[in-house]
Amino acid sequence: MEQDHLRDSVAVSPSHGLGVERRAQVSFLVCLTGTKYGCGTGGCGACTVMISKYNPVTKKIRHYSATACLVPICSLHGAAVTTVEGIGSIKTRIHPVQERLAKCHGTQCGFCSPGMVMSIYTLLRNHPDPSTEQLMEFLSGNLCRCTGYRPIIESGRTFCEESTVCQLQGTGKCCMDQEENQFSLDKEEKMCTKLYDESEFRPFDPSQEPIFPPELIRMAEDPQKKTLIFHGDRVMWMSPANLNELLELRMKYPMAPLVMGNTTVGPNMKFKGEFYPIIISPAGLPELNFVDFTDDGVTIGAGCSLAEMKDILTYTVSKEPKERTKTYRALLKHLRTLAGQQIRSMATLGGHVASKHDYSDINPILAAGKAILNLISKEGERQILIEELFTSLKEELHDGEIIYSVFIPQLQKWEIITAQRQAQRFENSFAIVNAGMRVKFEGTKNSIKDLKMFFGSVGPTTISASKTCEQLIGRQWNDEMLSEACRLVLDEIRIPPTAVGGMVEYKRTLIISFIFKFYLKVLRELHKLDPRMYPEIPESSRSALEEFPIKIPQGIQMFQCVDPHQPPQDPVGHPVMHQSGIKHATGEAVYNDDIPRMDKELHLAVVTSTRAHAKILSIDVSEALEFPGVVDVITAKDVPGKNNHEGEILYAENEVICVGQIVCTVAADTYAHAKKAAEKVKIIYEDVEPRIITIEEAIKHNSFLFKEKKIEKGNVDKAFKYVDDIIEDEVHVEGQEHFYMETQTVLVFPTEDKDMVIYTGTQFPTHVQNMIAATLGVPGNRIMCHMKRTGGAFGGKVSKPALLGAVAAVAAHKTGHPIRFVLERGDDMLITAGRHPLLAKYKIGFMKNGLIKAVDLQYYTNAGCTPDESEMVLEFMVLKSENAYDIPNFRCRGRACKTNLPSNTAFRGFGFPQGTLPVENYITAVAFKCGLPPEKVRDMNMYKTVNRTAYKEPFNPEPMLKCWEECLDKSSFQSRKKAIEEFNKKNDWKKKGIAIIPMKYTIGVPTAYESQAASLVHIYQDGSVLVTHGGCELGQGLYTKMIQVASRELKIPSSYIYLFETSTTTVPNASYTAGSMGTDINGRAVQNACQILMKRLEPIIKKNPKGKWEEWISQAFKESISLSSTGYFRGYQTHMDWEKEEGRPYPYFVYGAGCSEVEIDCLTGAHKLLRTDIFMDAAFSLNPAIDMGQIEGGFIQGMGLYTTEELKYSPEGVLYSRSPEDYKIPTVTEIPEEFYVTFVRSQNPIAIYSSKGLGEAGMFMGSSVFFAITDAVAAARRQRGLTEPFTLNSPATPEMIRMLCVDQFTEQIPRDDPSTFKPWSIHVS
Ligand SMILES: Cc1cc2nc3c(=O)[nH]c(=O)nc-3n(C[C@H](O)[C@H](O)[C@H](O)COP(=O)(O)OP(=O)(O)OC[C@H]3O[C@@H](n4cnc5c(N)ncnc54)[C@H](O)[C@@H]3O)c2cc1C
Ligand code: FES
Ligand code: FES
Repeated sequence: MEQDHLRDSVAVSPSHGLGVERRAQVSFLVCLTGTKYGCGTGGCGACTVMISKYNPVTKKIRHYSATACLVPICSLHGAAVTTVEGIGSIKTRIHPVQERLAKCHGTQCGFCSPGMVMSIYTLLRNHPDPSTEQLMEFLSGNLCRCTGYRPIIESGRTFCEESTVCQLQGTGKCCMDQEENQFSLDKEEKMCTKLYDESEFRPFDPSQEPIFPPELIRMAEDPQKKTLIFHGDRVMWMSPANLNELLELRMKYPMAPLVMGNTTVGPNMKFKGEFYPIIISPAGLPELNFVDFTDDGVTIGAGCSLAEMKDILTYTVSKEPKERTKTYRALLKHLRTLAGQQIRSMATLGGHVASKHDYSDINPILAAGKAILNLISKEGERQILIEELFTSLKEELHDGEIIYSVFIPQLQKWEIITAQRQAQRFENSFAIVNAGMRVKFEGTKNSIKDLKMFFGSVGPTTISASKTCEQLIGRQWNDEMLSEACRLVLDEIRIPPTAVGGMVEYKRTLIISFIFKFYLKVLRELHKLDPRMYPEIPESSRSALEEFPIKIPQGIQMFQCVDPHQPPQDPVGHPVMHQSGIKHATGEAVYNDDIPRMDKELHLAVVTSTRAHAKILSIDVSEALEFPGVVDVITAKDVPGKNNHEGEILYAENEVICVGQIVCTVAADTYAHAKKAAEKVKIIYEDVEPRIITIEEAIKHNSFLFKEKKIEKGNVDKAFKYVDDIIEDEVHVEGQEHFYMETQTVLVFPTEDKDMVIYTGTQFPTHVQNMIAATLGVPGNRIMCHMKRTGGAFGGKVSKPALLGAVAAVAAHKTGHPIRFVLERGDDMLITAGRHPLLAKYKIGFMKNGLIKAVDLQYYTNAGCTPDESEMVLEFMVLKSENAYDIPNFRCRGRACKTNLPSNTAFRGFGFPQGTLPVENYITAVAFKCGLPPEKVRDMNMYKTVNRTAYKEPFNPEPMLKCWEECLDKSSFQSRKKAIEEFNKKNDWKKKGIAIIPMKYTIGVPTAYESQAASLVHIYQDGSVLVTHGGCELGQGLYTKMIQVASRELKIPSSYIYLFETSTTTVPNASYTAGSMGTDINGRAVQNACQILMKRLEPIIKKNPKGKWEEWISQAFKESISLSSTGYFRGYQTHMDWEKEEGRPYPYFVYGAGCSEVEIDCLTGAHKLLRTDIFMDAAFSLNPAIDMGQIEGGFIQGMGLYTTEELKYSPEGVLYSRSPEDYKIPTVTEIPEEFYVTFVRSQNPIAIYSSKGLGEAGMFMGSSVFFAITDAVAAARRQRGLTEPFTLNSPATPEMIRMLCVDQFTEQIPRDDPSTFKPWSIHVS
């Protein structure tokens, strides 16, 4: 089925795609695996497909993107579904969208790629020449954790009308040719900017797309259509053929939901345990899908999707006079940012209104805009004002009634309406607070005739501030009225301090900040209506009303050109596409869960602890065992070997030490059965004290793992006596979720004897092997671990896959069946934890001129309940703690706190991104105190000459200074800073900020043997080469680079070389792929094997120098020369002596500098990233496309850490944020509007081909955004007379930003005494 429709004969249950199935998506049911499953909630877009439906009334075919994980299979009757396989494949012909995504380097791990492809493809089916705005809109529902989006957008932009090869503001002239180009570097250093060649792209011909199946048109037009009924074991699905039948069914089954877009019902059934035996689905009924324009407004059918509603309103706005379409424009604003394009295309207007979600973005505006619901039932029709749903408790839909349509009236001249929302992230994120407000004046009298204010996310549903509004009727629109409105509304809408969702004071502030914005907007509109009567609002206040626009990002990537004398066959240094790029884009790349099912295979579901610290009194599995399809329940008792491997516990035994700890697993024939049965396991706990959740609690209980780590230079205590001033403070950096797009997946196949074959996405197959062997009590040679690729890892797959692999292996051992163990997103986020939260306390001694003389720094990490990688993370943090600064008296100590949280683990940068933020923070604080610009204090305290680190490792900071200076210069830092100062002077409510941050980073590990690596290279008789090594392909392009290395060494084109997988059977004892050293160490091992082979071939080549590779190989074989070799790299000779506090723990340094500029909205806390410049010391880049991708992707991930990504825990240690709905990684909209990345050349003889490992370094550059925000907040505070230093903790969420921009509104809100209540969530750093 390439493109097909689902026939009645498809044997599926009506609950497919509705209930608990993990992967019950459209494509998977027909055995296509290209469509990926990243979350199951509609929030990530990995499962995007295109659905096409024919409307027999309009005679039009509608193509729309949808998240397959929320599409009920039965709703597809009569629809054509196109999955990524349907548009192109390697076997037949790849589609231009797939080709360009791959060639523009828009794929790294490739797990998001099919979804990206389908979003762009659907855009092109609707708009063959799309605008860049449409492109951004269609990508708004797709998350990518690897690339940083820039190359994905770029690939889509090649289809846009205004596409240009070089992206310098669409000038059409290559940046390198422009005289005025600010990026032209030294003449000797030849820089390139082209990472791909557009001329290679196949043209896009929209006329070649598959047609909509004519039989579906016939079906849709069939006048004899009947109600369609699907019977399942537990669910009956009914799709009425017309409105009359619908109303009959509605009357007969009042409890049955109407499933329209399924974006409310689906998630509720999946995650909230709702169950409906009968489902009525009128989706697609033409009677509910209409629009009617009249003189006084527009009526939209309840079955229209929100995306269609947006089109209808856009059309109306373009046709009608501006003043009459004010409500439509308000709605359009939110219809653009509500969810992603897929959800907007699925969700219907009727479903949205009826759901009455507290966070609804549309209902407050409809209510304020006097919209009318047209209701219909068998008994007749009636109309109600939507606002009555939220003001009168009695006004619910009656039994048998449905929403037929919504009438949205036009507004009158003296009516003004506004729509506002603030979310954690700009789009595809529920509002923290939203509002719809309308006022009507009595002509020119300036007195309020009618006033409506509705707020979302502040109560159980949309809340009306009706009492406030009533009291203000007749009042003049002036400052007194504003103060009164704020006072009254805070009195009327009371958010309790314990409110679910937290952020209570912020929400209160937002409510009145929105009223203030409304107030200003009305003044402005009144001025437009009657300039003589109403003065214009002051210029400095206008910025309160300006919105941050969504712009298509621009930018340039600059890297060193390849030496023109390099042989053409040699790919080293070229921007070679990811070796699996095309396969990623066509969906043919095989991930673990795509491996076909085995006979007798069982699925595993986990039962996890609900207590943070408790004794297990009993586990009752009897009911679970009786559940259909269940084969067994596995507990600690079933572990034949060690249940505790080096401190890591597989199954909890006797006690639990965190919420999320695995207590048992259920093995069943399907995942749905396993999961349902898991819910039946009954565990009785008895809480144990102490329960330690936060760092503060751990310090109080002296609960630490490992010994303290410390480095010191100079005499810190003495130095404090001779300084001008001292600052003491603390900084909190919260944790981070890896959010790799492919969740942890393990397949275990028991074979003969006690052998086990494991397929898993890991960064460390050796560890998986060792842990399973220890768990099963068998020698390592019985465990074969295979790893081909994984959908992102970022450190999260170093240690955890071993634990999960062992859990699955015990199940395989006990049942004798193959086991498929795939963590759902929620379980993955709960169980596997992430980056260590950090509390840093510091004492800084400095002189008045900004020179820092003494630093005493104390780190506390929240390690969680077991050791995992926490010791290494802490060591890295302490060793790298000075960053770029030469502080003569420097002491850093670190402790890892043992708490009752899931065990935190490795994460890109291994502690550096958290640990260095406080460093830059105290530099900023010193600058503040001295009244100096932070960049000046940074500059004066930086290492300037060849020197030694605090732990006495020699280094040369020259490349760092080069990055710093180039960044300052090429980003035009000083002139922009001046412009920002001007901007800030003129604008009271928007502030800009800019920051430049230097970086001294180290790659590798202090333990020498951990950087050893091996390879195995075979040359076959036809000359083809198979390369194997110990490194894992995580999306970072390691395999691609290894092919480049082998190609150079063997002097053959890359097409001769193949990499199949990494396995413990081919390369034993391999180290982890982490610490930015994957290419370095495995490259050396591959190089070594190739050189050995070339040495063997040398006599043959000498004899026949003009011969071809194939001839030499054939000859070698005939001469019995071995064509297979292992390769080996001993590792970097690193060491660290913690007793002496000195060593050479890292092989080399990577330097960089990053500059970012932001604008913040002081009233909401929103920020917009305007521009980022990164200068990274890449030495000689082995593959600039891949390295660029690592830096950009790392930067965006770092930016997420420091801004939008916020984990929420209950005071009892329960992680709330377990899906993309409540954990916000950056989307396409968050990336810088202008993004410039430049590689700075340096020498690095220590690494292969003088390259540098760049996998992690970009991450910390994200902190430039954090400090630009700090700068902007400081400007806001200065304007309000607050000149003392302040602390911005990480992440700098909208809440943090807003609450630091102290003003009359933050002062007006009621504050709660923290000692009087238990908050909904706490910070654990
Ligand atoms: C990932 C994701 C992100 C989201 N982001 C946002 C956001 O940012 N802002 C926001 O406001 N919303 C957001 N939503 C919510 C979304 O807007 C609603 O879920 C959606 O509008 C519901 O419409 P539906 O057609 O899918 O309803 P369904 O799920 O099909 O039905 C929902 C309910 O409405 C009833 N119903 C449906 N149609 C009718 C009718 N004609 N008459 C009477 N009752 C009816 C059903 O019986 C059912 O109880 C998001 C949802 C998801 C999944
Ligand atoms: S898997 Fe469907 S949106 Fe994430
Ligand atoms: S390439 Fe997008 S998630 Fe990995």
